[in-house]
Amino acid sequence: MSKIGVFDLAVRYGKLTAIANLSFQVAEGERVFISGPNGAGKSSLLLAIAGAVRAAHGRIEMDGEILSGLGSESVARRGLSMVPEGRRIFAGLTVMENLLVGTGLRRDRSAVGEDLEIVFDAFPILRERARANAGALSGGQQQMLAIARALMTNPKVMLVDEPSLGLAPKVVDDVYDRLCHLQQLRGLTLIIVEQSSTRAARVGGRMLLMRAGRIVADGDAAMFAADNLLTDAYFGDSA
Ligand SMILES: Nc1ncnc2c1ncn2[C@@H]1O[C@H](COP(=O)(O)OP(=O)(O)OP(=O)(O)O)[C@@H](O)[C@H]1O
Ligand SMILES: [Mg+2]
Repeated sequence: MSKIGVFDLAVRYGKLTAIANLSFQVAEGERVFISGPNGAGKSSLLLAIAGAVRAAHGRIEMDGEILSGLGSESVARRGLSMVPEGRRIFAGLTVMENLLVGTGLRRDRSAVGEDLEIVFDAFPILRERARANAGALSGGQQQMLAIARALMTNPKVMLVDEPSLGLAPKVVDDVYDRLCHLQQLRGLTLIIVEQSSTRAARVGGRMLLMRAGRIVADGDAAMFAADNLLTDAYFGDSA
């Protein structure tokens, strides 16, 4: 289990400020949802934590070690894995090949087989379709593959960007059930971008509400879902 600290973070794309003076901390094993309207900076925040975009200012720490400036591969080696927006699986590779892609970075190669069993137990459909091309999977199955692939790097912290995007509500239930099960099993710290406060409340956890690159509210997800005014104002809720 690992904790994350974000201190006075800024991310800029040229003149555009995507993240402005943002700070928060995530405890070991905690589940934190990041919500907010399109363009609020949710993906930029995850990308900055994962080392995929540069911090213009501030710092990011994992268990007291500074991650900012390391680059995404070094961050991944330290046990932080990201499931990107839009899943980004390799459609032309098989399910099994997708699962093994990230394992080259691992020092404990011998545990790869065991971890395969764990993700196959959590997502039996991936075991069934192991030899199929990933591009032939349904949207929900591709999301499960993206999560499973991230788990195969043996992370302590996982960042998941909009796992519900484009999926039917029942499929989203299924994805979250399995993700939460794996979180418990592996003692993961989870940061999940989720537009729907209703969904976040149902899954359970803390929620940070972002707007224009800043955190404007921080609390139990259930509290946000109960407040319909907030929900209507920020989400155009779909759950
Ligand atoms: N690579 C980029 N180059 C330039 N501007 C970018 C880039 N990525 C994001 N932006 C801009 O930064 C701001 C934050 O974008 P970001 O994708 O982080 O928001 P988001 O909250 O994830 O939005 P969405 O809900 O649409 O996924 C937006 O104004 C966006 O247009
Ligand atoms: Mg986004």
